[in-house]
Formats: sequence, C-alpha cells, structure tokens
Amino acid sequence: MILGALLLASSVTAVPLARSFSSTLIGLLGGKPKLTFDAEGNFKVVSFSDMHFGEGENVVWGPQQDVNTSIVHTIILENEKPNYVVFNGDLITGENVYADNATKYLDQMFAPTVTRKVPFSSTHGNHDNTLAITHQEEIEYEQAHYSALSYTRSDVGPKPYGCGNYWVPVYAETTDLVPAVIMWFFDSRSFTSGNPAGPGPIPPQANFYWVDENTVPQYIKQESALMTRTWKKVPPALVFVHIPVQKADILAALPSEGDHDDDPDPATQGFLNNTYTGLDLPFWNALVEMDGGRGTVLAVTSGHDHGDSWCARAIISSGVPICFNGHSGYGGYVTEHSMVRNARVFGLNLGDLAQAVPVVRTWNSYENSTINDEVVLGPEYMKEYN
Ligand SMILES: *[C@@H]1O[C@H](CO)[C@@H](O)[C@H](O)[C@H]1NC(C)=O
Ligand SMILES: *[C@@H]1O[C@H](CO)[C@@H](O)[C@H](O)[C@H]1NC(C)=O
Ligand SMILES: *[C@@H]1O[C@H](CO)[C@@H](O)[C@H](O)[C@H]1NC(C)=O
Ligand SMILES: *[C@@H]1O[C@H](CO)[C@@H](O)[C@H](O)[C@H]1NC(C)=O
Repeated sequence: MILGALLLASSVTAVPLARSFSSTLIGLLGGKPKLTFDAEGNFKVVSFSDMHFGEGENVVWGPQQDVNTSIVHTIILENEKPNYVVFNGDLITGENVYADNATKYLDQMFAPTVTRKVPFSSTHGNHDNTLAITHQEEIEYEQAHYSALSYTRSDVGPKPYGCGNYWVPVYAETTDLVPAVIMWFFDSRSFTSGNPAGPGPIPPQANFYWVDENTVPQYIKQESALMTRTWKKVPPALVFVHIPVQKADILAALPSEGDHDDDPDPATQGFLNNTYTGLDLPFWNALVEMDGGRGTVLAVTSGHDHGDSWCARAIISSGVPICFNGHSGYGGYVTEHSMVRNARVFGLNLGDLAQAVPVVRTWNSYENSTINDEVVLGPEYMKEYN
C-alpha cells in the first residue's frame, strides 16, 4: 500500500510498518510537489496575518480597504520574493460577510501570492468561524480551488470549527528523504469576538478559545514519534497558529525588538470569562516535548494581536521562541505603532539549521519597504532570560 511504501522508502531500519492511517506520517501523503531550499540553501517564508477581508462590503471604505491589503501583500512579496507564504489566520472578517459569497474574499486574498506562483497554506482565526463561514469551509474551498499551490490540510481536530491542524515538510534537495525543516500549522478555533455565543460547541463565556486539547497533543506526539522512528530525528519545526498561547503574555513584558502595543492577556488561548483555564497547555506542552530542550522548535508565531510584532523566549516558554506577526491587513483594528502594515519573515538557511542548536533569522517587512526588528532566534537570543 502507498502508506507503507512511503514509510519504507524513508526508513532504513526495520520498524513495524504503519497499518492504519492514524499511524502514518500524514504530512508525506499530500501528493504535492516537494518543497525545497534554493541553490544557496535558503527557504524564505513570509507570514501574513489578520487580513480581515470583507470587513465592510456594504460601505464605501470596505472594498478600498481590501484593495489596500492586496497592495500591502504585493509590495512585500515583491520585496521579499519568498519561497512560501503562510496566511496566519483571520483571513476574513466572517461576521460581516454573506454565506453565499464569503469564499470570494479568499480569491482576493490569495491573488497576489497566486499570481506570483508562490506555494502557500493557511491557518484560520477566530473571525474565520461565524454564522457565514467556518474553518472547514475555508479549508475545503482552498483545497478545491488552489490545489496547484496550496498545502493546507485538515489532519485532525473537531470539524467544522477546529480542524486546520497539519504539517508540511521542506527538503534540502528533491532527492532527500528526510526533511530539513517541518512547518506545523494549528487551529486555535474560537468564534468572533462580539459574537461569543456563535454557532457550535463553544461555551458562552468564552473569550478566546484554544487548540483542541483532545486531539492535537496526541497528533503531535504520534507524528513526532513516527518521525523519530523513520528519520532518526524530529526535524526543526516552525510553528504557525493564529491565537497566541497564553505563555506569550508573560513574555510580552520582556524587552524585545518589535511593537508591544497589545496586552495579549486575555486575548490569548485558554481564557473563559476572563479567567485563564490552562486548557491551552496540553497543546503547548506537546510542542515543548517535541523540542525536548534541544532548541528544535525554532519559533511559534501568531497573529490575532495586531499591535504585537516581537519575538521573545524565556524560562517560562521553556526557551521556545514565541513571535507575533504584526498586522498585514487594512481590515481589523490598528494600534499606535501598527499603522504601517507588515508581514513577519523567516529566513531559513540550511547552514543555520545544521548547527548543534538550530537557529532562524526573522524580521518584520513593511508596506513602506522598510525592514525592521531583525533577530536570530536560537540559544543566544535573550540568553539572559533563559
Ligand atoms: C488605503 O490606503 C491609503 C494609503 O495608505 C490610505 O490613505 C487610505 O485611507 C486607505 N483606505 C482604506 C479604506 O483603508
Ligand atoms: C458578496 O455579496 C454582497 C451582497 O450582494 C456584495 O455586496 C459583495 O460585494 C459580494 N462580495 C464579493 C467578494 O463578491
Ligand atoms: C463571568 O464571571 C462573572 C464574575 O465571576 C459572573 O458574574 C458571570 O456570570 C460569568 N459569566 C458567564 C457567562 O459565565
Ligand atoms: C516604515 O515603517 C516602519 C514601521 O512603522 C518605520 O519604523 C520606518 O521608519 C518606516 N520607514 C520609512 C522610510 O518611513
């Protein structure tokens, strides 16, 4: 069977072959072209967050706002020329759109990336789950209409509001069997703010929700155990999730490059009725376990808090860097320092990844063509707090 063959192809020792879908390296099964580093050993990822398309479709400024967002993306794509784009949640302001044409906004949002033939994938945000649209609908639309470029999947997690959990491998060369890096994508669920009692199984007292604690930690453990068996290691990981984990709130107080306009608390995972539940910890702990103190989780990056564009790490985050993407959309709120829209860029490099403890360069890239806040995430970054 194809599943067994894939495992066999990449495994040199005799491990029991996977016999069920749930014990396969799901990220190898997409049938997509292999993503690879370029000839200079670089793979650059641009992550756009919080586009909020369709926010004002019935008012004069609405369509112009979306045009502006497309211009932001166009400028940044031209300046950075990335190998991959991640749309890190709140693609649409779902509470303001109509169910019958909500996905048309995805066409607008993907257009600058698709025109440039850049492969991409998405995570989904609290504003992508409403009466008019759900994460599952956005994922299925993306898969149906952008199969040539989109790597978005739905491996695990509750449907229809929390199923965007998956991983995508990137190889040094097409002939390699072991990926140089894995990009992981997680679904932090939630319904829109202002509509907390929205459809589906969400507690009415929810502030913001969290990555499903029942399926996703198990998925991370299982997939990383299979990677260890098959490849003898869990490759370095770059993690994308729309709503930040609650640990971000503690890191926000530390001095770091980038904007610190938003207090992430309680606009992080794990809050009900302004009270922290700790229910984002099973997800977080699974990431920390995957890192194993080896520094292989390069960064966990989020949107959601438009006024935050920093990266930090400390003992409280088990040394794992937590980053914010800032704000790439003209939709959604702005803060004092986030008026100039930006993307977060990760400059992955094979040499950086091959170090005893891997590192990754990251910076903010702005619509005014300025690049700011460049740092190297790794053991030396914010060493004094670790
Ligand atoms: C679009 O962008 C221009 C230039 O930044 C700005 O002046 C204008 O207010 C924006 N319009 C909307 C609706 O966001
Ligand atoms: C969706 O339909 C509404 C209502 O007819 C319209 O105002 C809006 O422009 C449409 N949006 C798109 C992206 O086609
Ligand atoms: C939220 O907490 C407040 C204060 O404890 C309480 O009065 C209120 O009933 C709670 N609301 C919900 C929806 O649980
Ligand atoms: C562009 O915007 C950034 C972020 O606000 C700012 O730091 C930088 O000075 C601006 N650059 C120019 C040339 O205006």
